[in-house]
This record gives sequence, structure tokens and C-alpha cells, in this order.
Amino acid sequence: MRFQDKVVIVTGGAKGIGEAAVRAFSAEGAAVVIADVDDAAGEALARSLPRATFVHTDVSKMADAERAVRVAEQTYGGLDALFSNAGIQTYGRIEDVSEEDYERGMGVNFKGHVWMCKYAVPALRRRGGGAIVCTSSVQALATQTSVPIYAASKAATLTLVKAIAMDHAHEGIRINAVLPGSVDTPLLRGAAASFGPDVDATVAKWGKMHPIGRVIKAEEVARLVLFLCSDEARACTGAAYLIDGGLMAKLPVVLPD
Ligand SMILES: NC(=O)c1ccc[n+]([C@@H]2O[C@H](COP(=O)([O-])OP(=O)(O)OC[C@H]3O[C@@H](n4cnc5c(N)ncnc54)[C@H](O)[C@@H]3O)[C@@H](O)[C@H]2O)c1
Repeated sequence: MRFQDKVVIVTGGAKGIGEAAVRAFSAEGAAVVIADVDDAAGEALARSLPRATFVHTDVSKMADAERAVRVAEQTYGGLDALFSNAGIQTYGRIEDVSEEDYERGMGVNFKGHVWMCKYAVPALRRRGGGAIVCTSSVQALATQTSVPIYAASKAATLTLVKAIAMDHAHEGIRINAVLPGSVDTPLLRGAAASFGPDVDATVAKWGKMHPIGRVIKAEEVARLVLFLCSDEARACTGAAYLIDGGLMAKLPVVLPD
């Protein structure tokens, strides 16, 4: 019960990694604000938990971010942690990227962290300190074909995290990034579906590329997020934590048997 009497906001909390984090924070005693654009899934999840509230939040909009933080403070009396996690996958080579693709990709995946942190930092300060975790990706470090905007948004997130950490370490506000490999979520399954009908086979194939031989579970990412938001991680700030089943340690070299 590391989060008894604590208040946490999870963006993108209605599904996937965010949902797993919402459930894990709640199981350890937190009051949770679920900030998401999926009203039906977010409200159903909030109703199923003892102390949880859904707030319709498009993180790419500054006013929505402000409202999510205000709701946390008004409903539960303050804010102790933010898991800024909402993100969307976008594909397309640079010559095909439209202005709308750019605004959407950077808007959710990067600007979303900017607005959420802008309003969370003063709220955490009012509480005497706290923690923020932003979801980046292994694609901030190494990348693949057809993801220039997604990869750039994830790399920009890493730099944002380091810079915010520098400004607020002295007041007990810590901020870190998590960099998942492939995680079994609606996002990953949606991506797999766009490459063919056998989604399980595609997900399993992607899993085999990770040295642990499988994709990562959303609950496994949630465990890392809870650690980073807890007092056990009080010396951790401005850092990037891989949770990638060994993917970034791997060179594509195979020796002959
Ligand atoms: N699944 C993976 O393999 C993987 C790997 C690396 C990083 N990530 C990152 O993890 C994060 C979560 O991904 P996921 O796989 O759980 O995705 P998901 O699609 O399964 O869930 C994302 C949630 O974010 C919400 N969302 C989308 N746009 C939003 C917006 N503008 N404002 C608020 N909420 C919004 C969705 O409604 C959904 O509930 C993302 O930032 C993603 O880029 C995922």
C-alpha cells in the first residue's frame, strides 16, 4: 500500500499501459484520476474502482490538462504523482506526413507531456513534492522504418524530462521517463492488425525479436511506473528507464552454429 492517501493522475488511463497503471495504483491505495479521450472505457474503469474519477482529457489541449489537474485537487485534495502516458502510434514516411499528421503525432505524444507537466508541477509543489513519469519508447533511442514523427516525439519527450528534472529537483519534484519495447496493448494489437489478419501471430513474431522471447505485459510496465512514483525511488530523477525485454542491448548479429 505504497500509495495510501496519495492522489495520482494517469493520462491515457482508460486502456493499455495506462489502465494497468490505474489498476496498480488503486490496488496500492491511491485515489486515481483517469484522464483520457475514451469516455466509455474511462468511466467504466473509474466505476469499477474504490476511489477513481474519470475526466475527459485530450492531453494535446492545454485547457484539458489544466482541468485534469484541477479535478484531482478539488476531488481528492491534492496531487502526489502524474503518469503522463497518453500516446498514439503514427506511421508514414516523411514525404507523406501531412500537417495534420504532424500536429496530431506531436500534439498527443509530446505536447501532451508539456501541458500535463505545466499544470502538475505547481500542484505537486503545493503538496510539498511528488513524482512524474512520462512514457517515451525504445524508439527514442533506435528506430525502424515509417515512424519519423512517432520516434521524434518520443525522443523529444526524453529531453523534456531531463530539463524539467533540472528545474524542480531542489523542491522534491522528480521526473523520469519509461521506455517500453513492444507491450501487449490495444495500440500494439491495432498496429499488428494493420499488417495482416493474424494479429496473435504478428504479436508473437514481434515478441521473438525481444531477447526475452515475448512482448512485455502492460502490468510489467505498471510495476516500474509505481516504483518510480514511490518513495523507494527518491534518488531517481531526470533518467530514462528501459523496460524492453533486452531489446536495446541486442545487436542484429547471429553467429553460425
Ligand atoms: N504498446 C507498445 O508497444 C508501446 C511501446 C512503447 C511505448 N508505448 C507508449 O505507451 C503509451 C501507452 O500506449 P498503449 O500501448 O497503452 O496505447 P493504447 O492505445 O492501448 O492506450 C492509450 C490510451 O491513450 C488514450 N489517448 C489517446 N489519445 C489521447 C489524448 N489525446 N488524450 C488523452 N488520452 C488519449 C487512448 O484513448 C487510450 O486509452 C503511449 O505513449 C505509447 O506511445 C507503447
